[in-house]
Amino acid sequence: MFFLYQFYTMSKTLSIVRVPESTNNSLRAWSAADELLIHQLEETDTAPLVIYNDSFGYLSSHAAPRKTFAALDAKSQVKATLENFSNNSISGDHFEAVSLLEPLSEKVEIGLLKTPKSLEMFELFLSHFVKNSNKDATLYCGFMTRNFTKQLLEIGAEYFDEVEQSLSKKKARVLILRKPKVVSEKTMINSIEFGESEIKQYYGVFSSHHIDYATQFLIENLEPPEVVKSVLDLASGNGIIAKEVQKLFPDADIALVDDSQLAIESSKLNVKGENVSFFHNNNLEDIPSNSLDYVVSNPPFHVEYEIDISLPLRLFRAVEKKLVNEGKFQLVANSHLNYKPHLEKIFKRVSVVFDNDKFVVYSCYKRWDKNQEW
Ligand SMILES: C[S@@+](CC[C@H](N)C(=O)[O-])C[C@H]1O[C@@H](n2cnc3c(N)ncnc32)[C@H](O)[C@@H]1O
Repeated sequence: MFFLYQFYTMSKTLSIVRVPESTNNSLRAWSAADELLIHQLEETDTAPLVIYNDSFGYLSSHAAPRKTFAALDAKSQVKATLENFSNNSISGDHFEAVSLLEPLSEKVEIGLLKTPKSLEMFELFLSHFVKNSNKDATLYCGFMTRNFTKQLLEIGAEYFDEVEQSLSKKKARVLILRKPKVVSEKTMINSIEFGESEIKQYYGVFSSHHIDYATQFLIENLEPPEVVKSVLDLASGNGIIAKEVQKLFPDADIALVDDSQLAIESSKLNVKGENVSFFHNNNLEDIPSNSLDYVVSNPPFHVEYEIDISLPLRLFRAVEKKLVNEGKFQLVANSHLNYKPHLEKIFKRVSVVFDNDKFVVYSCYKRWDKNQEW
């Protein structure tokens, strides 16, 4: 079995692509750090493994047919992985997508981790691995050398007895963490005070220690339409924008959509009510067309270290389809992104309601009636 596995992995030439596609052709679906991780995997035996933060399924595809748990926070990561399996005729029988908030069905000996930008997310991954692995287990963490910070070593040493770094290859390295420690249970939830409210969020969720300043500008500049029965907080994070809109329209139906499971689980801690629905998804397929009066968002434009403008533009096009004819979309963005010309191609009318040297708040209308004020 071991030799068969070695043969299988060494002879594989896979074509892994970004899903959904990006308009920026310079962005790749994997990095030299992922290649180093697969090289490490090939040196180990066939024990089951757990993979963290595999953006487009490069690691899980190369791990086939070895039993693989993929602890993926983002729905987009799961979808991309399955699509890359299909493109490469990988059955996926070896693969099980699991939640970071639940235990694995069996203990593992090996883990591969694509080091995230957020150190708190890194810690959450390490904590999950330590709870779900045997005492001799090893976790390999791949990173690009330019993203190294010594806090990775410090956090590693909190959870493992042995911390070592590989040599650098193609500007990437692997942090090798051996012998998980027995650590006391830690609640990986931050608390943020905002006005009268206390907002809770899991480690790794956007803006971990204060409400994001752009989000605050949007909240201060909310200008909802007159009639609001249905609201969407798109890319809702901890749910703070939905929570503020709910104060204005307590009887409205409120939907929150976010790609991150940790974000959606955080928003459930903050936004309560019978008329509130949560969707862990990376698009708006759960929302009926022509159903929303008001959409609010501080939309994503990063995937980890990369800026990818095709991500928000795809979401904006979906918003236009989900709004009722009189519906309105308000969003905040960093000024340098210059969304106005893009938004004007999608919506009938776009106005700037707030603007400083850092952020812009836009109002977008699906239809335009000359009697409407703006
Ligand atoms: C800039 S943060 C805003 C979070 C929150 N609304 C706030 O203001 O604090 C963007 C959020 O978009 C989410 N996200 C990224 N890609 C997404 C997608 N395709 N669909 C939905 N949410 C997405 C991220 O998980 C993140 O929570």
